[in-house]
Amino acid sequence: MQVKRFGVSLDEDLLTILDTFVKNEKFPNRSQAIRFLIKKNTVEEKWKGNKVVAGAIILVYDHHKRELQNISTQIQHDYHHLILCVQHVHLDHHNCLETIAVKGKAKELTELADKLKAIKGIKHSKLVMSTVD
Ligand code: NI
Repeated sequence: MQVKRFGVSLDEDLLTILDTFVKNEKFPNRSQAIRFLIKKNTVEEKWKGNKVVAGAIILVYDHHKRELQNISTQIQHDYHHLILCVQHVHLDHHNCLETIAVKGKAKELTELADKLKAIKGIKHSKLVMSTVD
């Protein structure tokens, strides 16, 4: 893809904010940071517009709570058309980390993530929003 250059006018305050962002996030330069922000905004717009998107649901839980795994499996079967793959990692004696790669309409993915998050005993849960393209 051809790279095009354009000038950006910013007042000093905004430039300071941008430069702090570049520094904190360890971007190599301002262009990379601006590219990241544009892409982030595009992803968010797609999720807001209920477009077909991709992402990952991350769950951390104690596998000794057996009911939890049964409920989680039931929910995942209800939404199987959205699930690409599931990776299960045994973190330690008690805790499991599950990464569920998902693709589908944004609202359905959010609904699935919310149902999993609400299972009693889930220690941590996060929906990572990305795009298909
Ligand atoms: Ni495990």
